[in-house]
Amino acid sequence: MIKVGVVYHSVCGSTRTLAEAIVDGINSIPGCEGEALAIKGEHIIQGRYHNPELMLRLDQCNGIVFGSPTFMGSVSAQFKAFMDAASERYSGRGWVDKLSAGFTIGSNFSGDQLNTISTLQIFAAQMGMLWVPLGILPNHDVKRRNRSGCQSGLVAVVEGEGTVHELDYHTALYMGERIGQLLGRLQLL
Ligand SMILES: Cc1cc2nc3c(=O)[nH]c(=O)nc-3n(C[C@H](O)[C@H](O)[C@H](O)COP(=O)(O)O)c2cc1C
Repeated sequence: MIKVGVVYHSVCGSTRTLAEAIVDGINSIPGCEGEALAIKGEHIIQGRYHNPELMLRLDQCNGIVFGSPTFMGSVSAQFKAFMDAASERYSGRGWVDKLSAGFTIGSNFSGDQLNTISTLQIFAAQMGMLWVPLGILPNHDVKRRNRSGCQSGLVAVVEGEGTVHELDYHTALYMGERIGQLLGRLQLL
């Protein structure tokens, strides 16, 4: 079984909804199993993220999708604490060659969400992971997914507090399917 972890932080629930849609997309691919893993503030003690169980689950994954709300033009403080805690895997090269992708949501159409995606992308590169861009042509997709037009990852825009636009939801589903399909193809090599 191919395993993909979708690790995310969410306060009001919109990032969680996207994470769960990505998991549904992963699970729709035969032989793939997705799991949503929430980063919680209670695991940050004196500024340091500590959740060995979550880290071990990610170790067992073939791919990891990272998701954070955009807060002040970047990842949330809680997500950054998780990134810093992953430095143990950086030095041990524990996540090298796993597939990776990223998603974010903000309340504005151009609320600097790209900086969040770029932060996730650079984090994945630090870990030696292989980044999967979204791969949907904006304005040409018959289902009108990727309405924000970002290619590096999924950039969503809040509909109402804690909710997700239907097209962003379908883009998240697609992201999960794409990761699952790519991992399936890599396994066949
Ligand atoms: C402290 C804070 C900073 C924020 N900064 C931004 C921002 O820079 N750009 C943006 O588009 N939205 C910003 N937002 C809006 C959030 O990204 C938005 O509410 C998002 O849906 C939160 O995700 P969640 O529902 O998973 O908690 C900010 C919200 C908060 C609370």
